[in-house]
Amino acid sequence: MEKRIILLPGDGIGKEILEAAVKVLHVVEEKFNHRFVYETHAIGGNAIDRFGVPLTDETVNACKNADAVLLGAVGGPKWDNVPADIRPEKGLLKIRKELGLFANLRPIKAFASLLHASPLKEHIIKDSDILIVRELTSGIYFGKPSERRENGKVVVDTLYYERYEIERIVDKAFQFARMRKKKLTSVDKANVLESSRVWREIVNEKSSLYPDVEVEHLLVDAASMKLITNPSQFDVLVTENMFGDILSDEASVLTGSLGMLPSASIRSDQFGLYEPIHGSAPDIAGKGMANPIGMILSAALMLRFSFVMEEEASAIEAAVNETLSDGYHTADLQIENGTKLSTNEITEVITEKLQSTI
Ligand code: NAI
Ligand code: MG
Repeated sequence: MEKRIILLPGDGIGKEILEAAVKVLHVVEEKFNHRFVYETHAIGGNAIDRFGVPLTDETVNACKNADAVLLGAVGGPKWDNVPADIRPEKGLLKIRKELGLFANLRPIKAFASLLHASPLKEHIIKDSDILIVRELTSGIYFGKPSERRENGKVVVDTLYYERYEIERIVDKAFQFARMRKKKLTSVDKANVLESSRVWREIVNEKSSLYPDVEVEHLLVDAASMKLITNPSQFDVLVTENMFGDILSDEASVLTGSLGMLPSASIRSDQFGLYEPIHGSAPDIAGKGMANPIGMILSAALMLRFSFVMEEEASAIEAAVNETLSDGYHTADLQIENGTKLSTNEITEVITEKLQSTI
């Protein structure tokens, strides 16, 4: 099958980890007889340097004409002082919005071989397997007004939702719950926020369409506590944009390193944008130390969700698992008796495993 993929390396370690993911995809192409056609574009700080904006219309259009997008990460201290409206992160928000990617999926599963690498106790994280479904194109990150007033004496941000925006993310979450353990936890702040009360109403309305899925409502403060005290109670968790942003970073401690976790941003058709959950890690950029696994697993999610290549996606995941079980890791992970490798070295181990397991 031929697929067109846009590569947006971004800044910092973005380029290093995206190169690693493409190497893994080359093996998939060879082994499974696919053809992936790549086109690279700028986003974030490097786009600001070249074009004066963090995302050009040309790049947006290229993405619109592709089958999927792989993104590294954006930002870094070099652009800390650029005006707020052209910050690197604006490029990220804009591309999600322009492409209508309203659902952000973050699968979080403790790797068997890394249980001791998490700061949490092994018996607590052992059976955790969570899918966080975060609303991505509305809520408090997009609501207007968002501004300073009266010379900065007053400041306002707005949590704005239209009913259909909540309905479609809740539907997605129910659909994923149905494919998994059939439990949906909706997280809100309904004791304080009107938007959360409507969110809760919609979840309850929708639940009649999915009678096989068990529904639970949790306040975000309680949810943040339970995520690290009893993570195995969760299956699918659905929530507002900012709540989801915070909870998914919190949940990342289950796996031992931010560098391990992939994400998918999708919509109603098969198109999607795939990126690791971490940032551009300027502290280690260019040193060959970055953990490419979050990016490689993001490529696997692309194969699964956008290209319906389940066997190929599982093969990548198996290769990553085997690499970790053999004790290979990058410097961000502490593994007793393990072998510490560079970005390129661990990518080579993963591609070799992939070659031989398929
Ligand atoms: P970060 O995620 O870049 O780094 C946090 C810590 O984790 C650092 O010590 C870093 O070295 C380490 N780390 C992250 N990913 C790693 C990997 N793959 N391998 C090994 N170590 C890894 O978050 P930070 O430092 O808060 O932000 C740095 C820049 O990234 C900022 O400009 C921020 O705005 C941006 N950022 C971009 C995101 C994106 O593009 N989606 C998301 C979060 C932050
Ligand atoms: Mg975040």
